[in-house]
Amino acid sequence: MASLLIPKVEPAAMKSGFTIDSQFRPQYHFTAARNWLNDPNGLVYSNGIYHLFYQHNPQGEVWGNMSWGHATSADLVRWDEQPVAIPCDEQEAIFSGSAVADVHNTSGFGAGTTVPLVAIYTSAYSAGSRLAGRQAQSLAYSNDDGATWTKYAGNPVLDRASADFRDPKVFWYDGSAGSYWVMVAVEAMDREVVLYKSADLKAWEYLSTFGPANATGGVWECPDLFELPVDGDAGNTKWVLVVNLSPGGIAGGSGGQYFLGTFDGVAFASETTVTEGLEQDDSRMAEYGWLDWGRDYYAAVSFSNAPDGRRLMIGWMNNWQYGAVTPTSGWRSAMSLAREIRLATRGGRVVLMQAAVDPLEDGGARTYSEAGRSLPPGTRWLPAEASGDVLRIDAELEPGTAGKVGLLLRADGGERTVLAYDPGTGVLSLDRTASGNTAFHESFASVDRVAVPLEEGRLRLRVFLDRCSVEVFAQDGLATITDQIFPGETSTSLAVFAEGGGATLVSLDVVR
Ligand code: FRU
Repeated sequence: MASLLIPKVEPAAMKSGFTIDSQFRPQYHFTAARNWLNDPNGLVYSNGIYHLFYQHNPQGEVWGNMSWGHATSADLVRWDEQPVAIPCDEQEAIFSGSAVADVHNTSGFGAGTTVPLVAIYTSAYSAGSRLAGRQAQSLAYSNDDGATWTKYAGNPVLDRASADFRDPKVFWYDGSAGSYWVMVAVEAMDREVVLYKSADLKAWEYLSTFGPANATGGVWECPDLFELPVDGDAGNTKWVLVVNLSPGGIAGGSGGQYFLGTFDGVAFASETTVTEGLEQDDSRMAEYGWLDWGRDYYAAVSFSNAPDGRRLMIGWMNNWQYGAVTPTSGWRSAMSLAREIRLATRGGRVVLMQAAVDPLEDGGARTYSEAGRSLPPGTRWLPAEASGDVLRIDAELEPGTAGKVGLLLRADGGERTVLAYDPGTGVLSLDRTASGNTAFHESFASVDRVAVPLEEGRLRLRVFLDRCSVEVFAQDGLATITDQIFPGETSTSLAVFAEGGGATLVSLDVVR
């Protein structure tokens, strides 16, 4: 029986004699060996390596001393933690931002033959700085493939004298308006995305402002802007503007929304704006575009320079509501799996589809399968081969006459996380109210919901379980729900259930 327990984090942590929390330590999600992490930063692919930088407190298990941690991977699954890339100092904390491979050395930072990597980050100036209280954009560069970083002497490169101007995402624009770097960043309190352009990453010229629009119930943070083909047709593209916000997400607390539209090299024009302005209309929330319908997918941004034109995103698998008190020790917070983003036409509308980069594709083995079984009303516990705390579950269900059908995940007696579909309302829900330890914060226990239509009477689910998380991809990634859970160690059983009528389990495969 093959199992995939990647010994990527625990041995390093144990070597140092540090007490880690092995019960909840994710096996195939990135965590810092020690201490706190939040947003993914500087996601960039260069020279065969994916770089994941991240908001990191090198000295503690809660937010503070914000610096860019660093990890590298060849496959987006096995991550090797590297030394802290850009540490904070007395002058500034290093807030979120992006990184680019400056292939043409537009910045002039390049020295020799290696392509310079340039990080564009937010300087959050400390009390001791002459710019105290401001947030402005700064550069750091690396001429050794990301191993060591030098701050640019001319920092900051873009200062609006604002206290909430942050999270720059930079990409190379090459279109009808010309060829240049574009920065999307936020004026967080104003719920605005601001766009700038530059020839050299150092001198920036204002282009336009987008927002407020759609969800505005919290500060806008960590934007992203990229172009994708619709249905794989390079002649028919749309631009995707990602805007994370906290609180004010669809499931409560932190969440990520997106707009679809056009970008002419100057301004983003949204085709999916439902409401405009700062006034939040709670009744329209479900009409907005959401990256994820769970509580724990935040600050999601995409890789620059990913090979084969792929658009790959990673989110912070946590929520600012309770992020500081999740019940782990020695480390806190994980990244989501990497997700490949596509646009597709469904029911006459262009929608965003997401597929996880599957950590079990090569390393896992199918341990349990069944197909074509009727599900009479009741709960059927699956055999031991289908159990575990690090699993991928693929299920296809036909609700038939059932009022509810679904899976009990990480279950043991009364403890369970319930993934249920109600064909009457067309709503898929993930209920973590009885998932295990929920008491550490009053807003943790939750039921998260998303409307998902059946396709030919069927619902396809792909579920990734890790030690303290559930990521659900429904109808091939048309909707996703990502939630942390903290179950007891013996809560490893899997069950299928139907209520109020009979359903069919078209197929079920468990891989671990
Ligand atoms: C988002 C965020 C960013 C900021 C960073 C600070 O989670 O608040 O806006 O740059 O975290 O750690």
